[in-house]
Amino acid sequence: MNALTMDAVKKSAGWLVEDYDAVSRELSLRVGSQVETVDALSRHILDGGGKRLRPLLTCLWARAVGAVDLRRAHLLGAALEMIHMATLIHDDVIDQASTRRGRACASAIWGNTAAILCGDVLLAKAMAILGEDGDLEVIRLVSRMVVEMAEGEVKEVEVRGDFDLSLDQHFGVLRAKTASFIGCCCEVGAIVGGGDGAERAAAVEFGMELGMAFQLADDVLDYAGRQETTGKPRASDYREGQATLPLLLLREKSSSKRRELLKAKFGNGVTETEVEQISGWMAASGVFEDALQIADSHVSNAVLALNVLKPSKAKELLEVMARFSIERSS
Ligand code: IPE
Ligand code: IPE
Ligand code: MG
Ligand code: MG
Repeated sequence: MNALTMDAVKKSAGWLVEDYDAVSRELSLRVGSQVETVDALSRHILDGGGKRLRPLLTCLWARAVGAVDLRRAHLLGAALEMIHMATLIHDDVIDQASTRRGRACASAIWGNTAAILCGDVLLAKAMAILGEDGDLEVIRLVSRMVVEMAEGEVKEVEVRGDFDLSLDQHFGVLRAKTASFIGCCCEVGAIVGGGDGAERAAAVEFGMELGMAFQLADDVLDYAGRQETTGKPRASDYREGQATLPLLLLREKSSSKRRELLKAKFGNGVTETEVEQISGWMAASGVFEDALQIADSHVSNAVLALNVLKPSKAKELLEVMARFSIERSS
């Protein structure tokens, strides 16, 4: 795979770097706290990097529908990224993860209790920013999305350990936990940019489709990626007993003997050699290509949704972002 990096995407327009920097400045100002653990933990996750995909999409949509004043997009983008940071901190507790963004995750350093509480602080700070901005419609949208995303994480926990999960059930979880968030980031951008009803609907459609593609690609990277670039150990999902598309497709292509083997080790102390073997089966039976093809069909839908927009550099970059969602290595 010829991977695209966020740095390469940012280089294609100077103002994308401006948006990135403005959002990062806002974040840096806002995550600070008098409480030592909150301050250190928040800075740890912020300084770990991250692509800032969500706030950049907010800014791009604002620009694509004609915004001239980007300050609201930067502020709301920072709030959305804070919600994302809180989600990642909580997700690493749920997934008992050890690394995030290439470094030890917050829960591995400060423990689960501090991580959960600091995640709550970030979430509350994000809500405070929304209150400061004062747009009731945005507050309503973002609150609804946080409910849906959190319920998505709960649904995922409910199906943990279920080797016989159906594709439909799985896609439902991905829509709730990832696509709804990215759809919301795009819609908030279209709102602050003054977009009309059709542009707002297109923003949601684009973001949901990109979100599906993004999570599907993430789940392929979990098995096919390299830890040095993904920042996470290979096959974490299998180790945790979380069935994702590569495993569901491999299950369908396996003999009953191999299915039994896959099921026995699923979330049940798989060894490194077995992980290599399972990733090898996936590579040999073409499930990465099949999963990425499904992801690619979501990218095509996302690009189609851009048809309502007038030609602009921002529109071109939204298309680049849609492709980036699957052509990445981290
Ligand atoms: C990770 O999101 C969680 C998923 C939805 C797959 P990102 O891949 O956007 O994480 P960062 O912010 O770049 O670290
Ligand atoms: C990330 O989910 C959290 C949400 C999307 C809410 P995952 O567990 O799939 O992502 P990684 O692999 O830890 O980044
Ligand atoms: Mg996780
Ligand atoms: Mg998770």
